[in-house]
Amino acid sequence: MALKITVIGTGYLGATHAAAMAELGFEVLGLDVVPEKIEMLQRGEVPMYEPGLEELLRKHVAGIEGSTGRLRFTMDWAEVGEFGDVHFVCVNTPQKHGEYACDMSYVDAAFETLAPHLKGPALVVGKSTVPVGSAERLARTLAELSPAGEDAELAWNPEFLREGFAVQDTLHPDRLVAGVRSERAEKILREVYATPVSEGSPFVVTDFPTAELVKTSANSFLATKISFINAMAEVCEAAGGDVALLAEAIGHDERIGKKFLRAGIGFGGGCLPKDIRAFMARAGELGADQALTFLREIDSINMRRRGQMVEMAREALGGGSFLGKRVAVLGATFKPDSDDVRDSPALNVAGQIHLQGGQVTVYDPKGMANAKRLFPTLGYADSAVGAVRGADVVLHLTEWREFRELDPAVLGEAASARVLLDGRNALDPEVWRRAGWTYRAMGRPTA
Ligand code: UGA
Repeated sequence: MALKITVIGTGYLGATHAAAMAELGFEVLGLDVVPEKIEMLQRGEVPMYEPGLEELLRKHVAGIEGSTGRLRFTMDWAEVGEFGDVHFVCVNTPQKHGEYACDMSYVDAAFETLAPHLKGPALVVGKSTVPVGSAERLARTLAELSPAGEDAELAWNPEFLREGFAVQDTLHPDRLVAGVRSERAEKILREVYATPVSEGSPFVVTDFPTAELVKTSANSFLATKISFINAMAEVCEAAGGDVALLAEAIGHDERIGKKFLRAGIGFGGGCLPKDIRAFMARAGELGADQALTFLREIDSINMRRRGQMVEMAREALGGGSFLGKRVAVLGATFKPDSDDVRDSPALNVAGQIHLQGGQVTVYDPKGMANAKRLFPTLGYADSAVGAVRGADVVLHLTEWREFRELDPAVLGEAASARVLLDGRNALDPEVWRRAGWTYRAMGRPTA
């Protein structure tokens, strides 16, 4: 009999995981505690923008014409307990208010609510990003609260998907990590992931703490790479170098590699910033804080980028106050191909200029609704040209393809001054200069 799978939490991670499990051929039941989310998913609609996810969902959600019917959604925990052989916990772990540590209340609530419904053999698989040591503690919660006792087992299986590539990353992961305590748990996870493993995804078996640490250390490494190149951008600014050429040149060294060396206004989103902070907090609790003090520097290099972009804009406007100046902001999301504005560097820069009296108008291809909710006092336009109309300076802050395809001549007609600051080092300076723009990028004073 094929395994039956449940997915608890239907955010970026859970919704994608549920659809991907159905695509792999399993019967899947997804649960969320927010009724609006469940209603949307039952209609085959995705509560966020993620390329390819809605198509995959509609292919499998029961009740949609032509679907396989393998994927259903519910709010009923008893049904979940009854249905699943394997339960994936995919709820989020945001940063705690006013603290570095992450908020485990959603994970804890999920385990405490699920456990009493586990009456027979089941494998509960944690996917949420948690502080190391959590799995050990949650295994005890399961043992204490589930009627199945030892037959309800825990595994830890961190997720490495990127927003914007969530479907592809889930169906074809570059590695699978299985933190397990028994052969049975390993065997079940191998069965779940048989397809990607047969296609070549490496399957790394570890203990609980290592599995948890793989996740936080991977994100810390990525954050470090970005802040490293942004530190080089600061030095390039001071020394008259070009950080884009520098990144290309060091990237040819295979040991360094080209990826994640794009200098600009830095990293944001719901993961990297809060994960490095939670990691520092946890290391402190473990008495290993010295090992991670460098992450404090990674964080501060990153946060400094936003302020530097604001200062660059001020300089472009003559160096004084923003009062009465019109600033166009292209991009609101923390990265392209997503509608996620959580800790978005672009919105942060827009907000800072607005708070200093600038007239800011923002346009983003997919992030408008979320941006308006977070920052209702900013100005918004329906198009890039609309945002640029009458602007004294244009800031390119999220590298959407739409912005690379803009016609600088058309934008030049709309702007009041042709000054472009590229906060993502993603536009072609030559193309913009030919259309009469002053182009300035971060870390490339001479480019
Ligand atoms: C990140 C990790 O890449 C995933 O592997 C991980 O699963 C995920 O967090 C998570 O923990 O859930 P994501 O937050 O979707 O994924 O975004 P990234 O692609 O890592 O980008 C993060 C930020 O870094 C963005 O703001 C992006 O603009 C910025 N970035 C990225 C740069 O500034 N420069 C670069 O060269 C690359």
